Amino acid sequence: MKSSELSGFYRKSGEGRWQVIRNFGELTDAEIATIGNTGALDFDQVDRMIENVVGTMPLPLGIAVNFRINGTDRLVPMAIEEPSVVAAASNAAKLARVKGGFTASTSGPVMIGQIQIVGVPDPHGARMTILAHRDEILSIANEKDPVLVKFGGGAKDVEVRVLQTARGPMVIAHLLVDCRDAMGANAVNTMAEAVAPHLERWTGGRVYLRIISNLAVRRLARARAAFDKEAIGGEAVVDGILEAYAFAEADPFRCATHNKGIMNGVDAVVIATGNDWRAVEAGAHAYAAWKSGGYRPLTTWEKDANGDLIGTIELPMPVGLVGGATAVHPTARANVHLLGVKTAQELAEIVAAVGLAQNFAALRALATEGIQRGHMSLHARNIAATAGAVGHEIDEVAEVLVRERKVRMDRAAEVLAHIRAKRK
Ligand code: MEV
Repeated sequence: MKSSELSGFYRKSGEGRWQVIRNFGELTDAEIATIGNTGALDFDQVDRMIENVVGTMPLPLGIAVNFRINGTDRLVPMAIEEPSVVAAASNAAKLARVKGGFTASTSGPVMIGQIQIVGVPDPHGARMTILAHRDEILSIANEKDPVLVKFGGGAKDVEVRVLQTARGPMVIAHLLVDCRDAMGANAVNTMAEAVAPHLERWTGGRVYLRIISNLAVRRLARARAAFDKEAIGGEAVVDGILEAYAFAEADPFRCATHNKGIMNGVDAVVIATGNDWRAVEAGAHAYAAWKSGGYRPLTTWEKDANGDLIGTIELPMPVGLVGGATAVHPTARANVHLLGVKTAQELAEIVAAVGLAQNFAALRALATEGIQRGHMSLHARNIAATAGAVGHEIDEVAEVLVRERKVRMDRAAEVLAHIRAKRK
């Protein structure tokens, strides 16, 4: 039997690792070459980013056009494997331009580090003791990151909560850290670890976890856009979008998909800029549940006095420009350059605007013709190419498949044969 228990896999060279996976998975040379293709990156660079590297997993990178945010035009890179997302964002951004585009803002780049203290005999008393040491805590934390402090960031405040849990009361200290242009997880975790022994000493309790919270309620990004009712298809479309929004507000089953559509846009920009999309995902859904005591949409939709559609979005946006993959991944760096952002907050505003645009596009499609038509045309082109169509044949075959609503390999092969026979 083949064993996945491999000691020293990490010490092997790329060649050595390819040899192992080739044998284990009975891979072909072509498959190894595909996996091992590191594209814009050197193997050594990738090898330093994660462990046990064998190659890269390329994603399509598209550009969303038409975005105007706070009066500035932006071309927005999006890395995503799903068809229609980039086109939908671009369309929505075009429609938003009619009323001036998006306005966006942020709350400031403050992350929360949590320190869990258990076994405290007097949790409420301990809370006061910790708060009384606020300045000392901040200086212990800030000693750990003089560079962040130099740029105006660092630990800024302390909050303490007493939690009732299944294992009794716990004292939870929050260290509020202004991360400036860093995502900040490393800085926050280092500070939380530095402060922890002192909290144990002052409270007589025992510290377990010392870690950042992804429910980043102090690092919010917000965007707003007005959509002209005539430009988007009239009053019926506005009403359809409001019905769709009311559905998501009332039903978590629908709301999960509503928010998923928002994250199609958000994640694509977050990935394209080398940021931690799991942190953004976790924060978004936690915020959607925390904000009003139940899982709700990250956007709001309403009609203004003219009958135009007004959309807003608010969600945690822990993205950075310094540190992490954003600083070392050459494609991420080029994408940040293309965006022209100078601060993490500017980037967060763009991401929020894309999330709002994406939600608008999804709701408009769903409330009118449905999303399949848009989805299907790209899918049909893929099917046509897989069936062997080349060059202009791809569009010819795809058109027939979409028209007939038969986006299938067998039909693609038939249509292709028919087109070729006609040409002879
Ligand atoms: C598909 O990836 C996203 C949508 O399902 C979003 C939505 O339903 O609002 C279209």
